[in-house]
Amino acid sequence: MKLYLDTANVAEIRELSWLVDGVTTNPSLVAREKRPFSEVLGEICGIVRGPVSAEVVALDRDGMIREARELARVAPNVVVKIPMTEAGMQAVQALAREEVHTNVTLVFSANQALLAAKCGATYVSPFVGRIDDAGGDGMGVVAEILPIYRHYGFPTEVIVASVRHPGHVLQAALLGAPIATVPYEVLKKLFGHPLTEAGIARFLKDWQKVPKA
Ligand code: G3P
Repeated sequence: MKLYLDTANVAEIRELSWLVDGVTTNPSLVAREKRPFSEVLGEICGIVRGPVSAEVVALDRDGMIREARELARVAPNVVVKIPMTEAGMQAVQALAREEVHTNVTLVFSANQALLAAKCGATYVSPFVGRIDDAGGDGMGVVAEILPIYRHYGFPTEVIVASVRHPGHVLQAALLGAPIATVPYEVLKKLFGHPLTEAGIARFLKDWQKVPKA
């Protein structure tokens, strides 16, 4: 299972670059950085060898394709994030022919994921946290997408996105999702367990009782 970091913060990416397999950004995450996007994207691609998702903001097919080509020129590991709309899927289909890698974002149903795969998306990002927020079952949607992709042999990879807590990561792993993109705070939580900390404290205390040579 691959873990991506869902952030545009260069300090967070540098700290966890030894662990993560890629990075995903979106316009809201980029806005937090208060820096020009091209500068931030170039820096992230210099730190991470794996795929780095960067989102278009145009809504029409040709505008999306134009922006995608510009983003893809920044670095070979750039993946262009395209929203799940009809125009977006036309752009994904055209970009697939040019071998530009795409990540279809704002996916909330298995049927949307099916269309993204048929159009040649490299990745698809179901937003599990936002589905849960709306009273749905985010991981249930992932559980529907995975067998559909297997059934038809689609090469599109699922990135479990909008991850809010370690439980989402665990469920993604149990379902066999190939990738989860995880915010910094959630990824840091995966290291910890209260019994690990208590165990270390106990071992160190007992070590003091061992006679020194
Ligand atoms: O990558 C998409 C993800 O960042 C959205 O997360 O928490 O804004 O729903 P969230």
